Amino acid sequence: MTLLEQLGIKHPFLLAPMAGVSTPELAAEVSNQGGLGSLGLGASTASSAREQILKTQELTDQPFQVNFFCHQPAVLDAQIAQQWIDYLSPQFQKYGATPPEQLNCIYPSFLDNDDFLNVVLETQPKAVSFHFGIPHAHQIQALKAAGILTLVSATNLAEALAIEAAGIDVIIAQGIEAGGHRGIFNETFDSSVRTADLVQLIKKHCQLPIVAAGGIMTGQQAKVLLNLGADALQLGTAFVQCKSSNANIAYRKALFDQPITQITASISGRPARGLINHWHMQIDTPERPQVPAYPYTYDLGKQLHAAAVQHNDHGFGAFWAGSNVAQIRELEAADLINQLVLEMNFA
Ligand SMILES: Cc1cc2nc3c(=O)[nH]c(=O)nc-3n(C[C@H](O)[C@H](O)[C@H](O)COP(=O)(O)O)c2cc1C
Repeated sequence: MTLLEQLGIKHPFLLAPMAGVSTPELAAEVSNQGGLGSLGLGASTASSAREQILKTQELTDQPFQVNFFCHQPAVLDAQIAQQWIDYLSPQFQKYGATPPEQLNCIYPSFLDNDDFLNVVLETQPKAVSFHFGIPHAHQIQALKAAGILTLVSATNLAEALAIEAAGIDVIIAQGIEAGGHRGIFNETFDSSVRTADLVQLIKKHCQLPIVAAGGIMTGQQAKVLLNLGADALQLGTAFVQCKSSNANIAYRKALFDQPITQITASISGRPARGLINHWHMQIDTPERPQVPAYPYTYDLGKQLHAAAVQHNDHGFGAFWAGSNVAQIRELEAADLINQLVLEMNFA
């Protein structure tokens, strides 16, 4: 069976799960057009995850995937945390705000307990994907027993081999061009492989189907990766401008105004690619101290953003975008899928 048959979709285009940006409406539009819609649920509680899945199931009877974070339990170093709070303190003061005294772990991991797993088993989406690592063996077995396909992001060959050995069904080859968080398992180490190189490497050494992700904005780019061995493509940035995404006006404007990206770990504690803003220009200076662990750093980053927004400054937003963001088009999700298919077929 091909991957498209396994997923039950017509076109090889997967909407990337995007926590904070995905909506049930966007997921359903992509699925109804023959792609695979998705929900980024890594920043949700279990009950909100359940609600979003049920809402999506009301809007489409077609398959879609849900996505969670599999980061290892973070240990917060109190001294590193204090240095980081002190370092960002003048930024808070600029907006008449005071930084918090301590940082909180704002996102649970799928690995922490089985709450998310139980929501997935109860609601039965077609597929579930994971970022930052591989679920526990008992979780993989439970998903398999329920007939739910599993996908995990790999950013290098070693991660891909570990995914295959764990019994996962599909490898997402996330290249360095990708918008949003790097899916790296170990947050201190990134091999920065390009999408096209990663697809070829994984194709050569692994047997599992490959979904290529990172920097894909057109059907022509998709075709190149399919020719290199990808079975399907996952696109995030290309869909952020769609009306049904949750992106706010400042983010949408920035995508067109300054479509240049850079990777930083300062926003969340894990490296992520986004539009260049205050984080990259004012925080990532040569004097920058070590960032605390993910997601504690994100707690502070979100609070600084909120303080700045009170003064109409959106420069501390997490405006995730891939390196080919300059090719973004303002199309509705269904039209974008049609356009991608057309370009792919005539490439
Ligand atoms: C706004 C945004 C949010 C993202 N959030 C997630 C997420 O919650 N989970 C995940 O697995 N990947 C996430 N990603 C990464 C995507 O899965 C994918 O690797 C990336 O979008 C591909 O690169 P592209 O943006 O150039 O298409 C996000 C990407 C973007 C742009």
